[in-house]
Amino acid sequence: MDSFRALRIHQGDGRIEARFESIGLDDLAAGEVVERVRFSSINYKDALAATGAGRILRRYPLVGGIDLSGEVVSFADALQARRRGAGHRLRPVGEPRRRLRRVRARQGRLGRAAARRPALDDVMRIGTAGYTAALAIHRLEQNGQAPGNGPPLVSGASGGVGSRAIDMLAGRGYEVVAVSGKLGADDYLAAIGAARVLRRSAIDLGTRPLEAPLWAGAIDNLGGEVLTSLTRTVDFFGNIAGIGLAASPELHTTVMPFILRGMSLRGINSLANPRALRLKVWERIATDLRPRHLERICAGSIAFEERPAAFPAYRAGTVQGRTLVRIS
Ligand SMILES: NC(=O)c1ccc[n+]([C@@H]2O[C@H](COP(=O)([O-])OP(=O)(O)OC[C@H]3O[C@@H](n4cnc5c(N)ncnc54)[C@H](OP(=O)(O)O)[C@@H]3O)[C@@H](O)[C@H]2O)c1
Repeated sequence: MDSFRALRIHQGDGRIEARFESIGLDDLAAGEVVERVRFSSINYKDALAATGAGRILRRYPLVGGIDLSGEVVSFADALQARRRGAGHRLRPVGEPRRRLRRVRARQGRLGRAAARRPALDDVMRIGTAGYTAALAIHRLEQNGQAPGNGPPLVSGASGGVGSRAIDMLAGRGYEVVAVSGKLGADDYLAAIGAARVLRRSAIDLGTRPLEAPLWAGAIDNLGGEVLTSLTRTVDFFGNIAGIGLAASPELHTTVMPFILRGMSLRGINSLANPRALRLKVWERIATDLRPRHLERICAGSIAFEERPAAFPAYRAGTVQGRTLVRIS
């Protein structure tokens, strides 16, 4: 393929601009594996990067996007023998692009290892958000979280990570409490597995270092006041997975929940995972954490050309679930 279309992000005259362009393989960033992209997705950081609302990218121009699913087209010569057979893969590598992309060979191992791989469109419906949700649950359970401990809370519930977390937790037998700022998301959240839905504005954030215990654990996508409040209200030996900062990067708490309640705050980073951990989490996504409501969470799909028009809603936090992007 001589050229292909890409949504490329440029910086110039103090402005960030994303535009569709026809580019060739030589325009792609360094990498040993070339993949043909079939599906992509959109998340909050994609919207920030493409609109310039957040300083996400370190260099320009760059093909925007995080998630992709597709097929391996070629490997660098020295790697061909070892890598032949790698197929569907899913990993955020920073540059999904129209039709083709190049990735580091180390990352290519993952697809081959994903023995029970779902179809390419379902891989994208799981997405980085699904992987992150599963990693969070895995890390909570490594530290003793279990359905019998009581209900866990999920904040940013109607977003990409929150929705998958609810779906997976409910499938594991947890009685999930979903916290959402959206009016009108109740039916959706109940349909994907929430046992109870609370309005974010209705939560009593508390002021004391320790408030009455309310939740057995939590998956937090917001940071700020909500995460602070969770540290005060998670029960004895409960765990909080700190995933996101959709509301704020701030956290104001004390050591009291840690030393008087044995609460643990577990940091989640979906990128820099050791291979063994990544494979373990994918194995769980294929088995006991298998999402049951992907069609509901990713209810719609858009064409590649419609991608820019979808960014404002992500920036505004008004999106429910996720959008599948059809590349080819
Ligand atoms: N640690 C990691 O490896 C990792 C991986 C993926 C994502 N993340 C981060 O995790 C967070 C969630 O990601 P996502 O993909 O689920 O994002 P998303 O799809 O945009 O969802 C975020 C959700 O948070 C709520 N929200 C948005 N803006 C808010 C605000 N200003 N104040 C309070 N609530 C707000 C909304 O849910 P409700 O309306 O239902 O409240 C929204 O749907 C983001 O900060 C993202 O950058 C981290």
